[in-house]
Amino acid sequence: MKTRRKFLTILGGGVVVAAASGAWALTRNPTTARAPWAAAGQILDGDPRTRWLSWAILAPSPHNRQPWIVDLRIPDEITLLVDLNRRLPDTDPFDRQITIGLGAFLELARMAAAEEGVTLEVEAFPDGADTASLDLRPIARLKVMTKAATPDPLFQHVSVRRTNRATFDVSRAVSQPDLEAIAAEAIPLRAGFSADATEVARLRDIAWRAMVIEMNTPAAAIESIDLTRIGRAEIEANPDGISLSGPLMEGLALTGLLSREGMAQFGSAGHQAMMDAQKPQFDTAMAFLWIATDGNDRVAQVSAGRAYLRANLAATGRGVAMQPFSQALQEYSEMASSYAELVNALAPRASDRVQMFARLGYAPLPAQSPRWPLATRILKA
Ligand SMILES: Cc1cc2nc3c(=O)[nH]c(=O)nc-3n(C[C@H](O)[C@H](O)[C@H](O)COP(=O)(O)O)c2cc1C
Repeated sequence: MKTRRKFLTILGGGVVVAAASGAWALTRNPTTARAPWAAAGQILDGDPRTRWLSWAILAPSPHNRQPWIVDLRIPDEITLLVDLNRRLPDTDPFDRQITIGLGAFLELARMAAAEEGVTLEVEAFPDGADTASLDLRPIARLKVMTKAATPDPLFQHVSVRRTNRATFDVSRAVSQPDLEAIAAEAIPLRAGFSADATEVARLRDIAWRAMVIEMNTPAAAIESIDLTRIGRAEIEANPDGISLSGPLMEGLALTGLLSREGMAQFGSAGHQAMMDAQKPQFDTAMAFLWIATDGNDRVAQVSAGRAYLRANLAATGRGVAMQPFSQALQEYSEMASSYAELVNALAPRASDRVQMFARLGYAPLPAQSPRWPLATRILKA
């Protein structure tokens, strides 16, 4: 029982460096998986585009799938493609969230170039797109322009931007000016926020019930469980997905208390522990931010990703932690009533399609999430 309680306390932290001390703890950190954060700003093969892209790969993406591939074969251009093997067919059946992640990547690439005074003009879906699923047509074409660019003040926060899954400090409210400044980064899209206690309680409840539906919908739950990497060796082998790291996680895995198989057994202690571990995230949401678009075409989804990234950076700059709660927004049939409930709660402030819904609050900065190195994301001729 004691062990289970400990497990619940730590799993809630998402990527966790457990409190265990000594050299063993240090050696269990997935350092290679985090190396791209330190490598950002470096150049490959003398090609300045790789320096911008080394920042872009730090973008947030659903389940940390990092669905980007870049084609650098045309000089002074970057063609962004999707890696079709990195989609989430059960929780993201129309690739909407994957497209949002690609939008965040684009915005970071643009900002990194601007930092050097270079204008990257972004044309999203130059050859058109399908709304049912992404395909091999480019997500975007980025062209180096002669016009000088102005650096973006948000860029300074890139290396400390995180998705924070920790329990937030319930004694600290997020101020109205902070929320306004964060939401302002999502303009001209329709962004809104609330820190009103009654409304936050209602939104916490809708979001949590959506998570319960997700965890009890076999295809959706198993898609996430399959992408859970437990311990250093798994994270280093596949630096993506949902990572559970640190000596305590590895210890629990060794004793059989933590396993993908256990999580996937509905009604089992392992499955229940996975749910319980996430509850504090919902209970400690201190404010919510949402980003909606007029319509839901691919260009709108890319814009939502760019806006989310900017809002996340603005929050970082103000010391505000952020975590999306995407379950209620997902399109599989079991989730339809949750989405309707959420839209109803946000009405009339959210328009056609709510693209991102995130909690805000205060918590210590977690470790960086894993990344595949840039070299693995460049299309080989
Ligand atoms: C479209 C989208 C949806 C996301 N949904 C969730 C979510 O529901 N819960 C969550 O904890 N993180 C969510 N995230 C955050 C990713 O899991 C996170 O970006 C990724 O793990 C990389 O971590 P980082 O943002 O700290 O770099 C989402 C990100 C994107 C772009």
